[in-house]
Amino acid sequence: MGDKGFFCKDGLWYCDKLSLLELREDLGRKYSRPTPVMVYSQQKLIDNLKAYQCCASSSIEIGYSMKANNNLQLLKIIAAHVDRIITVSGYEIQMALRAGFKNESVIYNGNGKERWEIELAIKENCLLNVDSQFDANHIVEAVTKLEKEAKVFVRVNPNLNPEVHPYISTGLADSKFGVEIAQLPEVLSILKHPGVKVVGLHCHLGSTIKSIDIFKDAAIILNKLGTKLRQDGFPNLEYLNLGGGLGIDYTGEDVLPQPSDMISAIRQEVSPEFKIIVEPGRSIVGNAGALLVDVIGTKKNVAKSFVIINGAMNDVLRPSMYSGYHRITPLQVHQSAEMGKYDVVGPICESADFLGKDRMLPALEEGESLAILDCGAYCSAMASNYNLRGRAMEVMVEDYSWRVVRTREGLEDIISCME
Ligand code: LLP
Repeated sequence: MGDKGFFCKDGLWYCDKLSLLELREDLGRKYSRPTPVMVYSQQKLIDNLKAYQCCASSSIEIGYSMKANNNLQLLKIIAAHVDRIITVSGYEIQMALRAGFKNESVIYNGNGKERWEIELAIKENCLLNVDSQFDANHIVEAVTKLEKEAKVFVRVNPNLNPEVHPYISTGLADSKFGVEIAQLPEVLSILKHPGVKVVGLHCHLGSTIKSIDIFKDAAIILNKLGTKLRQDGFPNLEYLNLGGGLGIDYTGEDVLPQPSDMISAIRQEVSPEFKIIVEPGRSIVGNAGALLVDVIGTKKNVAKSFVIINGAMNDVLRPSMYSGYHRITPLQVHQSAEMGKYDVVGPICESADFLGKDRMLPALEEGESLAILDCGAYCSAMASNYNLRGRAMEVMVEDYSWRVVRTREGLEDIISCME
């Protein structure tokens, strides 16, 4: 707990210098529907960026993984603090450029790139991550068609177990991502094309990782492969990209490795001839965002008590999809309040629509607000219109003030692309 980002002081929850109660009242004065609203802390975002920035050097580059949060206003802030941006679709490439990232700083990664996306990346001088034999073939074809060089990384599947939820484990033998080490020679032989320059190797192990040992294991594997390839006809191979994946403290009680711990562990295993890239997402934006919601009502069924809120799985999918845990708190905490056990659920017609199960909360009335913490990563980016719900408004808090960084999606916004 600190005095930046989201923290509780004398019973009041704050975002930076602004109490969430005051923010909620302010929003209520301005909007007929003030919640659900995603609230970001500009200071926390910048602090998280600085924690990575201070590890950066001529041999260590930090890339932000846009998939964690693609809000243009956040991206503009992020662009001022990191060297690179990691994109996974054509639109993400275009958004990165719109946000002010330099063309050469964009890395385009993905296991299923369409032709137009590959061509866009090449035309825009972005780097590409090769994920398979067919991907290598498609890239070579695009290079030939466009008569333009492509700089590429090859994504290796290191078959390491990050011990996280299976849906966010990406570097195992049964994962769809990357090139199995045994198949590397074939992929590399396709890439031995005059228009293709292999500049690095890449791997990404998974997300919400709590131990840095696995990053070391991956660094050892990439370092060995990279050293061999440099001698075997790929002299331009200068980068080892270890991916993202560092977890954050979702419970408020975990002690997690810091970016500097992860990066120095990797550096120790990598020979000085290579530059290192890391591509964090969650650890940059995750704890810089919280969703404010209002209570619609409470009810008790035979076996459970429920708090029904106006935020739902379309705003925060992580609990239902990955059993993700997010702290849920009233904006003001009274120590003397009697607590009961509740499932905190949304209005969506699905039993999977829960934000938290078996949470200890005080008795809540209609209209009281709650904060769902650590929603900066993979929440608004994964939000949907399910049940024809509009996506939430988003605001950025800076010291005592706030500004809208995304307006609430209205019915007309949704309908306009169906007419
Ligand atoms: N690089 C690659 C190639 C990735 O696939 C990812 C995330 C990252 C970097 C960034 O990882 P991070 O530092 O954010 O852990 N929706 C899930 C997480 C999916 C992560 C996908 N890949 C969730 O809500 O937990």
